[in-house]
Amino acid sequence: MRRQLRPRRPQDGVLDLASNDYLGLSQDPRVVEAAAAATHTWGSGSTGSRLVTGSTELHVELEQALATFLGAPAGLVFSSGYLANLGAICALSAPDCLVVSDALNHASIVDACRLSRAEVAIAPHRSPAAVGELLSRRTTPRALVVSDAVFSVDGDLAPLAELHEVARRHGALLVVDEAHALGVVGEGGRGATATSGLAGEPDVVVTVTLSKSLGSQGGAVLGDAAVVEHLVNTARAFIFDTGLAPASAAAALAALRILKGEPERAEAVRRRARELAAAIEGAGWPATSPDAAVVSALVGEPALAVAAAERCLEEGVRVGCFRPPSVPDGVSRLRLTARATLTDADVDRAGKVLASAH
Ligand SMILES: Cc1ncc(COP(=O)(O)O)c(C=O)c1O
Repeated sequence: MRRQLRPRRPQDGVLDLASNDYLGLSQDPRVVEAAAAATHTWGSGSTGSRLVTGSTELHVELEQALATFLGAPAGLVFSSGYLANLGAICALSAPDCLVVSDALNHASIVDACRLSRAEVAIAPHRSPAAVGELLSRRTTPRALVVSDAVFSVDGDLAPLAELHEVARRHGALLVVDEAHALGVVGEGGRGATATSGLAGEPDVVVTVTLSKSLGSQGGAVLGDAAVVEHLVNTARAFIFDTGLAPASAAAALAALRILKGEPERAEAVRRRARELAAAIEGAGWPATSPDAAVVSALVGEPALAVAAAERCLEEGVRVGCFRPPSVPDGVSRLRLTARATLTDADVDRAGKVLASAH
């Protein structure tokens, strides 16, 4: 079955349970206004690599705000979360390095591993013991352990404290992708690294996207000032890429300020995710555990999942549909994402539509 791009219209009245706008901030007037004001001040693009055309005060302010929020000493923004992973993993590894990557890590991490020219070992999903085994057998002087904090398809949490313990024991750096955790997991959405007591640890590097709970576009790497300096000098995804657009930087900064001032949004999205999991089970499918904003309805056969997603859309509810090669055979699913701004009526409606689609 070939994938197709579908047209999207503004305010189409469809209940959106497929986007990554977890806190509903992409449409918040304060965020939209910040993006418009930055465009008026700085223009529509950032006009070149920041090493060539300079760093605006917006970029610097955003980096400081993200670092403070996530409890890291310093940060560097990239033009996407994909490039933040590419930049961090490639710059922090080399052919004399072993990169141990969870089997269900995001495609951007998979691609980063391939580009890094490091030796790569894929660890079974969520297995610190297997990671330890791979690290103890390594022949390289250096090692990196890489994991999503919240896995993007099942929405489950990585055992970060255990991964860090094992990485530290073997002298490896831990890189954590907080793409689905920022704004959702932990007190006020400060992420899984903070919840696991790892914020600010010198051997932990965090990557984030600005395109999910912050409702903007872009990505960032957070870590020691020395890590940031190393990235500025060696991360090709930073050096040879046009800087993050001013509108995106300003929107992310405004969104982060809202999140700080309205920390209850993080709890609201987690509660809505639990309710969506109950709605999926009420409709007769097994649901993955709602640890963050992502919940999947395990449908099985790809054709059934596609038909169910289409039926939901006909009924006015947009859900994601994941099938091979994005997921293994036999576990095609509907992937629903919760949003802090969903109402009780939205969740009721989702439950009824899911039931009629089964
Ligand atoms: C876990 C994870 N990491 C990285 C990314 C890439 O982020 P971006 O969309 O900003 O490129 C995504 C987004 O899809 C993701 O789910």
